[in-house]
Amino acid sequence: MSDFKRVLVTSALPYANGPLHIGHMAGVYVPSDIYTRYLRLKGVDVLSVCGSDEHGVPITLKARSEGVTPQEVVDRYHEINKRAFEEFGIAFDIYARTSSPVHHETASAFFRKLYDAGEFVEKSSMQLYDEEAECFLADRYITGTCPHCGYDKAYGDQCESCGTSLSPTELKNPRSTISGAKPVTRETLHWFLPLDRYEGWLREWILEEHKEWKSNVYGQCKSWIDQGLQPRAVSRDLDWGVPVPVEGADGKVLYVWFDAPIGYISATRELTPDWEKYWKDKDTRLVHFIGKDNIVFHCIIFPAMLRAEGSFILPDNVPANEFLNLEGDKISTSRNWAVWLHEYLEDFPGKQDVLRYMLCAGMPEAKDNDFTWKEFQARNNNELVAVLGNFVNRALVLTSKYYQGAVPSPGELNDYDREALAEIARSHAATGAALENFRFREALKEAMGLARTGNKYLADTEPWKLIKSDEERVRTIMYVSLQITAALSVLLEPFLPNTMKVLRQWLGSDSFRWDDLSAGGGTTADVPRLIEPGSLVASDGLLFEKIEDDIIEKQIERLMERKESNMEAEAGAEAKPEPAKDNIGYDTFMASDLRVATVLEAERVPKTDRLLKLTVDTGIDTRTIVAGMAEHYKPEDVVGMQVCIVANLEPRKIRGIESRGMVLMAEDSSGKLTLVSPIAATGNGSIIK
Ligand code: 2FM
Ligand code: ZN
Repeated sequence: MSDFKRVLVTSALPYANGPLHIGHMAGVYVPSDIYTRYLRLKGVDVLSVCGSDEHGVPITLKARSEGVTPQEVVDRYHEINKRAFEEFGIAFDIYARTSSPVHHETASAFFRKLYDAGEFVEKSSMQLYDEEAECFLADRYITGTCPHCGYDKAYGDQCESCGTSLSPTELKNPRSTISGAKPVTRETLHWFLPLDRYEGWLREWILEEHKEWKSNVYGQCKSWIDQGLQPRAVSRDLDWGVPVPVEGADGKVLYVWFDAPIGYISATRELTPDWEKYWKDKDTRLVHFIGKDNIVFHCIIFPAMLRAEGSFILPDNVPANEFLNLEGDKISTSRNWAVWLHEYLEDFPGKQDVLRYMLCAGMPEAKDNDFTWKEFQARNNNELVAVLGNFVNRALVLTSKYYQGAVPSPGELNDYDREALAEIARSHAATGAALENFRFREALKEAMGLARTGNKYLADTEPWKLIKSDEERVRTIMYVSLQITAALSVLLEPFLPNTMKVLRQWLGSDSFRWDDLSAGGGTTADVPRLIEPGSLVASDGLLFEKIEDDIIEKQIERLMERKESNMEAEAGAEAKPEPAKDNIGYDTFMASDLRVATVLEAERVPKTDRLLKLTVDTGIDTRTIVAGMAEHYKPEDVVGMQVCIVANLEPRKIRGIESRGMVLMAEDSSGKLTLVSPIAATGNGSIIK
């Protein structure tokens, strides 16, 4: 950090096609906000930009499913998501939108500059086309089977099961999301960014010059580069997006992944006339906060675009996180398997910081991690309430009780007091170092370590016992405790901004800086003094409240209900009958000889689980039929039963037994077989027609 004059923090622009959930927060916005708040407290010149990603197929699909325009969809979710971020204290300097004129203009000019400089390859290619809906099928307009993992609901741009990036033509059994039709291919013209030309440079820039990037990010980049980079289309045949600013490109827009990262630039432009300082000066450190599915776009494609453009800086770091799961399952919007921020706000009003704490403590930094409601409860009750809240409450309540809220002057400090105070500088250094390296879990642990120190210090020194016998000693203990309390209000500010704001109000100071906590950072060289003797403090309630079992049970029950209804829906979807077969002529049907017959004998065919050997009376003869029904009927169940058979099938040898005919059975979508039988007894040999 020290080599830079300022920092520009970007956070992935969420699609404005739905509300936000804990996965978004843990992956991107909690870490970006902690980092930004930390830099602000340090007095660094930092800007944090974000906004809605309002183009692309996810938006148009949502609009189509609701029967409204894409603009209506983005207008709605832009406001909802902007408010949710505000509620959780995610303090962006701007929350912009990619449908804004400034963005359209910026993205258009960016494309045009590359176009004029001959940086694109113009190419006609065969793309999937829906003849029923009469449109090309880009990205998520196609679903099919992933060629890598076999997942049958993979999208045309990505498989959500194995995470691989795909192109629509790679999918097996592709289907149009719009009409369900099997697509055909048609020729269309597009502009491609020749990533292959940047391969050597990217290899050098990332793999040699950015070895410090997180290993999950570095590893993904390496694997992309090692596989060889291909030209990527940067335009699409769609009617929603930034129009391609080239003559004759009607009906074509910029690919959403071309315009979205430019959204960081347009947001900064919208925020400040000084925007070029943050984008064009090498002394600015650019940091992209994203989830792991965005790595290739931010580490390979956007840098290649920036390099081709030539006047912008490149990201210095891209601290992408892995994914957060929920109660053992992948978070999924379509299955409603998520903790939605708006639901959380309703169920836990005023407890935004508890969720921030939980999402930071369990951040999926190096690998996917699981959110469970039990852990949420335990972290709240055992850490926030029992350690941090308890310590702060005791420090402030005892100060009120003994000194009417005035910070006492300390007597002589003993070793234990000095040790406790030294923890302020130690945890300040450790928390800062972890944050500089994007190790947020460790940073929080270090900061909370100071609360543990304070809590233990009070429990060990027991001022409530000493107050009668050694009043002077109590003054020192309360003084030390209040210095630690003040330090916590700074150290934990990036993590728990709402709560620490309250605490600073109680302490009567909002002017602390991060480095006030460093060794010698206070007013005396060897003993940090954040809060002066004589100044007044006053608490007004508790910082955190215990969360009872019934509240947590309710959340778990809600998830279980969702799981059940998902399972029912999936079973319902599976129960869809097979599509109808092609028509046949009447004569073809009449050629089959269908008869009623009675089962005289039945036995299992040895060495198979599936087959029964039946002896049936067809009215014409007595014959043997081998039927694949042993998993559904026992021999004794079928003896004496009237069944329907195909009497004129060519005889076939099955397991050495000649089978003359076939017993008719109905098979449902789960594979369960049910014998077809006349509903009233009838003569053997009766013809079925
Ligand atoms: O994955 C997503 O949700 C994208 N909307 C992120 C875009 S990040 C940036 F490039 F704008
Ligand atoms: Zn896959």
